[in-house]
Formats: sequence, structure tokens, C-alpha cells
Amino acid sequence: MGKDVIIACDFSSKQACMDFLDKFTDRKPFVKIGMELFYAEGPQIVREIKARGHKIFLDLKLHDIPNTVKKSMSVLSNLDVDMTNLHAAGTGAMMEGALEGLTREDGTRPILIAVTQLTSTSEERMKNELLINEPIDKVVMHYAKNAKDSGLDGVVCSPLEAGKVHDLCGKDFLTITPGVRFADGDIGDQVRVMTPAEAKKIGSDYIVVGRPITAAEDPVAAYNRCVAEFCD
Ligand code: C5P
Repeated sequence: MGKDVIIACDFSSKQACMDFLDKFTDRKPFVKIGMELFYAEGPQIVREIKARGHKIFLDLKLHDIPNTVKKSMSVLSNLDVDMTNLHAAGTGAMMEGALEGLTREDGTRPILIAVTQLTSTSEERMKNELLINEPIDKVVMHYAKNAKDSGLDGVVCSPLEAGKVHDLCGKDFLTITPGVRFADGDIGDQVRVMTPAEAKKIGSDYIVVGRPITAAEDPVAAYNRCVAEFCD
């Protein structure tokens, strides 16, 4: 496991996504499929992208009772995804159920990672609406530890938190980090960003990169630049 660039394929239709992936004739990138594309196109989109030779991170962020999550994870595992995720807020019982559901008869399973607190959740809203009174950094680290203790493989976090997560949960506990931008690129709506090279230095295991690649004039060149900075 390790060090790869995952392209966030945030497209609203199969056509747009396939037109984009058609550009990659050489190295087939690891791709992230999110709720928008999955709900628009259904599980067949996963099978088709997989059949083209891509690894897939299916980003559906499950959160339900343990039995429902266990059974749903079993379905996702049969789709042969390489990585998927859930909300750590579902608690240990749900995370353990998820792992059980994901594990195939031959003992293999996709990588399972947790979302701690969404970056869109402010400390103020967390306190006022969720009645969680601890500082948000402490909550994020505590949820990461819960995920680790439940047997998960890692967490999604800001590259700025990757070092702290490794200190707390061990260097083998994976950090999957969005919020990546080129030094000379547009930040867009991301706030706390890092370059691929900085993310590598700080110890991110996988970077998730969307618009710096999908909206680039030459997406393959932008992808290759990410790989050169992060993986090589
Ligand atoms: O286009 P951009 O590089 O900002 O895309 C980043 C991807 O990572 C998007 O799919 C976004 O939903 C996802 N993501 C994020 N921040 C998080 C969790 C996921 O940007 N905290």
C-alpha cells in the first residue's frame, strides 16, 4: 500500500467522466467516485471504470446502524472497489460491522478509511448543533484513534493533520488527504492547501486531487506533475 495520486472524478454524468478518462492512455490513475456520479449512474459505473484498469476509491461515506452498514459494505466489496469509507461518528460497532461486511470469503477486502469531522463543520456548529464541546482538533484526533482501534486502515484528513494522525495512530495508519494545489495554481474554494511535494514531505499516503487535474488544460500533464511531485 502506499503513495499514490487519486483523481477526484467529480463529474455529473458517465459521458463526462469517460471522456476525461479516455485521455489517460498510458498510466491508469487511481480514481475517486463520489456520491454525485454513483447516484446518477449506479453501480455499473464502478464496474465500467474498473474494467478500464483503474483502481477505485468509492467515496460514499456510509453512516447507519451496524447491520445496515455491514450488509451494504458487503455489496460494495463485491463491486471490487479498492478503497471505500464511512463516518467514524457511526461508532466502533458500526466500523467493526463495516469491516466484517467488506471482508471477502478469501480474506481480502478493500481499504477502509474513516471521515472524522467534515471540514465543512465548524467548531461553533459542532458545539451548538451537535453539543460536542471539545476543540475540533481534539475531536478529529479522537475519532481517528477510534477508527484505528476498530481496525480501520486510515482516515481522510487535511495534509496539515497527516503528521499528527501518524504520531497518534502509527505510521502505517493511512492518511488520505484532499486540499492539494500546485504552488502556481488556483486555490478555488479550498482553504487550507498544500502542494503535492509538501504533502509528500509531511507523510500523506494518498493525495486526492480534483480540479487541479480535471479542470487543467492538459489533465494528463497535470496528473503526471502530481505523480512526479508526490510519488517519485
Ligand atoms: O477539486 P478538489 O481538488 O478541491 O477536490 C477535492 C476532492 O476531495 C473533492 O471530491 C472533495 O469532495 C473531496 N474532499 C475535500 N475535503 C474533505 C473531504 C473530501 O475536498 N475534507
